[in-house]
Amino acid sequence: MISAIIGAQWGDEGKGKITDFLAQKNDYVVRYQGGNNAGHTLYINQKKYVLHLIPSGILNPNARCLIAQGVVINPKVLIEELDYLKSNDIVPTSAQLGISLQAPVITSYHVLLDQMRESKNDKQKIGTTGKGIGPCYEDLTARKALLMKDLLDKNTIQKKLENILLEKNVLFKNLYGSNFVAIEEETENLYQYGQILKPYLCDTLTELNIASKKKQNILFEGAQGVLLDINFGSYPYVTSSSPSLGGIINGTGLAKIPDNVIGIAKAYCTRVGEGPFPTELFDETGKEIQRIGNEFGATTGRIRRCGWLDLPMLKYSCMVSGINQIILTKLDILHHFSEIKVCYKYIYKNQEYSCFNQSMNFSEIEPVYKTFKAPQINNKELSDDAKAYLSYIEEELEIPIKIVAIGPEREDLIMR
Ligand code: IMP
Repeated sequence: MISAIIGAQWGDEGKGKITDFLAQKNDYVVRYQGGNNAGHTLYINQKKYVLHLIPSGILNPNARCLIAQGVVINPKVLIEELDYLKSNDIVPTSAQLGISLQAPVITSYHVLLDQMRESKNDKQKIGTTGKGIGPCYEDLTARKALLMKDLLDKNTIQKKLENILLEKNVLFKNLYGSNFVAIEEETENLYQYGQILKPYLCDTLTELNIASKKKQNILFEGAQGVLLDINFGSYPYVTSSSPSLGGIINGTGLAKIPDNVIGIAKAYCTRVGEGPFPTELFDETGKEIQRIGNEFGATTGRIRRCGWLDLPMLKYSCMVSGINQIILTKLDILHHFSEIKVCYKYIYKNQEYSCFNQSMNFSEIEPVYKTFKAPQINNKELSDDAKAYLSYIEEELEIPIKIVAIGPEREDLIMR
């Protein structure tokens, strides 16, 4: 069985918690895109873990975790994350963790470039996480990127850096007024990182295809969300990879459509960084959701913008990713309100739409809401109001909600 966990909104839907839960039933847990822009928070026995690059299945000793070639890897950050796990008595062996030889490497100049651009270019700021994700994917498509396998050979690192930095150092010096990146130092650092990570490096593509032939259970863990997808998101306010279904085949080389395409959606919406957000709340209710839901970015600590659940946008996400089941998270946050709202249609240029489409200009979308009594949960039992709210979402999406998350811990889940 192949399953995929896909963020159906703007990221931060609680994918890490669900991956950790489903990892218990899977032989493989595989990250396929993004990088350490992701922040997956897990609570196990009241202990908090935050992962950025390593799949959230790592806290389950039986699943093998892979970082596939679609992920951009900052080797320094990956080593720090391994050290963080070790300091929490989790020591991933090379049998537990595999890293693609073919994955592009985020170097210090990618991070620098990302941060320089964001600080200089105020009007067109994307609000990136500043982790060098975009600049690294740019080098990949420019056919210049360093790959993880290159880190095993000093000469290759140096030659590739010389080739790339010929252009980049002109930018640093003349456009951003910053220092040159020193090639020798960067080469040495990257080589050392390669030596540390060498035991984990492997051909994840062949391994996954063999596992699939043997009918092993594979779980793909998406980072970010469909509405941040480079192809299908609110361009240009997107990330530089494909969190949606297409990103799985491209990012792993396993040319199979998963049996279970699980869309993770929060019971309300959040967004970090710049970009359109039709149901955003600018009032006290938005602040309350932010406070009660503890809506701070796990990677950057930024406050997440909050708003009501947006069904026309969620329908669009489900459509472009072939989502065939939903896991709804953070339902418990809504019971603090007396009533809640759900956007069920848009009015756009005097016409009604139940699903977002690409002809729409975000600034002219008018969300229309239905009001519900707040869903209550008592001892893992859903109130009638909660059931009515879930049924309504299922009917609108024409997709079943299989699990509802009602708290941060592994066991805070209601199966339906
Ligand atoms: P980048 O991925 O750092 O280039 O940032 C591009 C956009 O994606 C920005 O709006 C970020 O806030 C957003 N973003 C990137 N990663 C995440 C994530 O894991 N959760 C939510 N938003 C993210």
